[in-house]
Amino acid sequence: MPIWQGAGRRIHMQEVGLRDGLQMEKAFVPTADKIALCNALSDAGLSKIEVTSFTSPTAIPALRDAEIVLREITRRPGTLYTALVPNLRGAERAIESRTDELNLVMSVSATHNLANLRMTREQSFAVLAQVAALAQGAGVAVNVSLSCVFGCPFEGDVPDADVLGWVQRFADLGVSGITLCDTTGMAYPTQVRQVTKAARARWPGVEFTLHFHNTRGMGLANVLAGIDAGASRFDTSLGGLGGCPFAPGASGNVCSEEVVHALALMGYDTGVDLAQLIAAAQRLPALIGHDVSSQIAKAGPRLALHPVPAGFDAIRERALAR
Ligand code: COA
Ligand code: ZN
Repeated sequence: MPIWQGAGRRIHMQEVGLRDGLQMEKAFVPTADKIALCNALSDAGLSKIEVTSFTSPTAIPALRDAEIVLREITRRPGTLYTALVPNLRGAERAIESRTDELNLVMSVSATHNLANLRMTREQSFAVLAQVAALAQGAGVAVNVSLSCVFGCPFEGDVPDADVLGWVQRFADLGVSGITLCDTTGMAYPTQVRQVTKAARARWPGVEFTLHFHNTRGMGLANVLAGIDAGASRFDTSLGGLGGCPFAPGASGNVCSEEVVHALALMGYDTGVDLAQLIAAAQRLPALIGHDVSSQIAKAGPRLALHPVPAGFDAIRERALAR
């Protein structure tokens, strides 16, 4: 059986490389290349693709071509195309561009929300409540990504009561999904298990996604802890790109092909074709002008075997003659 066809529990892979990844890159990836990359990711079988963000082009110049990208990609049945939206202007642009889902963003940390979005949390919430109503009226799905759930680079740990309070307020708006984001890689497995269990028990009707950055090398361990606690949706990024430009020390998301590779070996069904995903990741260095952190794009899957060393027959004969 090919390595990518795990037969076990379904884990939904949600690709964020085109948004979380490219927003952090100095190079402007040409629009046609973004479209081609998105199409390759659709072909590889991702459940959801965050195609871009409808943010201020001054704040995030790398994604200033959001409308064209969403208009020109090929939409595969079975993949949901989402985009990050911080405000009403972004929501109008995203709905106009026929985005399947709006991914609303705010931070549970007061300081990070001001640094990233230039609003207080109350101001963000008020705006996003209007955005949710607009989207719901237009028949467009709404997910909310809450930044800094597992820690804030300015404030440290955000009190559980704050985190749960913001989840409650969005759940009350009737959003279909909530993403718990570890914006700067501060999450650790025991914390992930506890937060995931608590959230799932308290809001069984909400679809939770976990979003980890590998900043401190705990990304894959956190994914596995999340799965143990019942999570089945993960944001991951091709090549391990990613990071918030307004969070100091931010670095790449947990890497899509590394997660797919590990989960397939463990028998989970990700629905993703690993070979196609690796091929897509191998395109990245030419597009962004530097190497990527992905171990799997470099090493290949576990059973990508190598030829024996030169002179191997002689080595064997010599050994057998001893
Ligand atoms: N799309 C396009 N342009 C937008 C916009 C949007 N969603 N929101 C605001 N703008 C434009 C305004 O029209 C205005 O343009 P002008 O200067 O030509 O008049 C300018 O941006 C400033 O608008 P304002 O409402 O004052 O925004 P701001 O400067 O307070 O910034 C945000 C607020 C949220 C728009 C901005 O900080 C942002 O886009 N942040 C994105 C953060 C992000 O994506 N972080 C990484 C992901 S977590
Ligand atoms: Zn992120």
